[in-house]
Amino acid sequence: MISKWFDERLELKKFKEKFLTKAFPTHPTFLFGEIALFSFITLVITGIFLGFLYEPSIDKVSLFGAMVPAAYASVVRIDLLPLGMIIRRIHHWSAMIMIAAIVTHLGRIYFTSAYRKPREINWLIGLALLAVTLGAALTGYLLPYSQFSVTATSIAYYISKSVPWIGGWLSRLLFAGEFPAAGTVPRFFFLHVMLVPLALLGLIGLHLLVLVKHKHTEPAANRKRTDARGGRRLIGIPVWPEQSFISVSLFFFLLSVVVLMATYIPLNPIEAYGPPSPATPVMRPDWYFLPIYGFLKLIPGNLSFSIAGGKFTPEAIGGVLFPGLLALILVAIPFLDRVSTPRNYIENPLHRPVMTSLGIAGGAFLFMTTLSGYIDVLHIAPSSMAIYVLVVTAAAWGISYLLLRLYCRAGKKGDHVKT
Ligand code: HEM
Repeated sequence: MISKWFDERLELKKFKEKFLTKAFPTHPTFLFGEIALFSFITLVITGIFLGFLYEPSIDKVSLFGAMVPAAYASVVRIDLLPLGMIIRRIHHWSAMIMIAAIVTHLGRIYFTSAYRKPREINWLIGLALLAVTLGAALTGYLLPYSQFSVTATSIAYYISKSVPWIGGWLSRLLFAGEFPAAGTVPRFFFLHVMLVPLALLGLIGLHLLVLVKHKHTEPAANRKRTDARGGRRLIGIPVWPEQSFISVSLFFFLLSVVVLMATYIPLNPIEAYGPPSPATPVMRPDWYFLPIYGFLKLIPGNLSFSIAGGKFTPEAIGGVLFPGLLALILVAIPFLDRVSTPRNYIENPLHRPVMTSLGIAGGAFLFMTTLSGYIDVLHIAPSSMAIYVLVVTAAAWGISYLLLRLYCRAGKKGDHVKT
């Protein structure tokens, strides 16, 4: 009765036939994109709760008899509320899981070549999503305004200031003056709760629209069955009801994992760090910024050069050139490994020695630059660590390439081997 009423007005049956019957692949690696999406939803819900209680100001207020920045005091008060601390931790853990899920999702797309024609556009939208998500993490870090927040954000400030030609203007735009300026926290608050979530929402919408247009890729094993059915018809389970039940179950499973983690693992305990003080302790950023932090540690302090009036300082080389180069490589992948006809079947990474070994070498390089962030505790000189980074990366590439070639030669290759 009710459904008929709605159907007469909204033509729900047509919607159901067009969208809810679409097939979703059953392979679990196709769920990483969903995990990123669900983490984003959890972040928005917990962020709304935090937004009602957070104060974006560094004016001094009294907290237990001491004068501390209002932003810091408001976060300490959130921690003291019933459920306050756990919601703040859920927010923090969901951010970590979202970034990890995006990186794994990107890895799945790379290693199975799902970025190839016609999906280059979605690869690029995905990269924009990764960049904006990292922006969300960066702007969120400053908000509690603890000693940790200020130290970690000051690294980003010096990097933005070092951008050749436009550094002064860019750092003033992002940080509302010389960091830590009175306007920095309100500026970051605006970016974190308004601009970045809107950008994420728009990009995720676009990403999913393009996905619906292209349909998912499929395992090559499905090729004969789909071709036999004529045209490109996906083999999988329908969005409604099967996939919807899986997705809802995945959402609640993820939520329960995050709640468990938030209950037992303290994240960013600002009471332990305390408000900002003139003594700057050594603090490492979170794991996703560690490759940049580690790379900065490897650059000799006196290395610098100029191009057309723009000065490349060690901060600019490690914090701008290095991530810029990584981003350029990621952007170029679908255009370097291009094909002339659309490819709707993913490939087995074991059948792609060149691309798979390069991906493994890239992973080894990021691991080693992450490790470089710890050279002070490992007691390794930057010049020795730089050599280890190169040796391990080259070894990872060489060994994996040889093994994959041997594997293919051993006759286990498919009919679409690309070397
Ligand atoms: C907030 C971040 C992201 C969200 C929420 C998201 C969400 C999704 C979802 C739900 C799917 C369908 C399921 C799947 O194929 O895994 C998908 C597919 C896809 N994503 Fe993402 N994604 C994100 C980031 C990225 C990134 C960083 C890349 C790559 C640079 C990327 C590239 C793609 C491509 C090419 C597809 C189509 C894959 C295929 O048909 O096999 N996405 N995404």
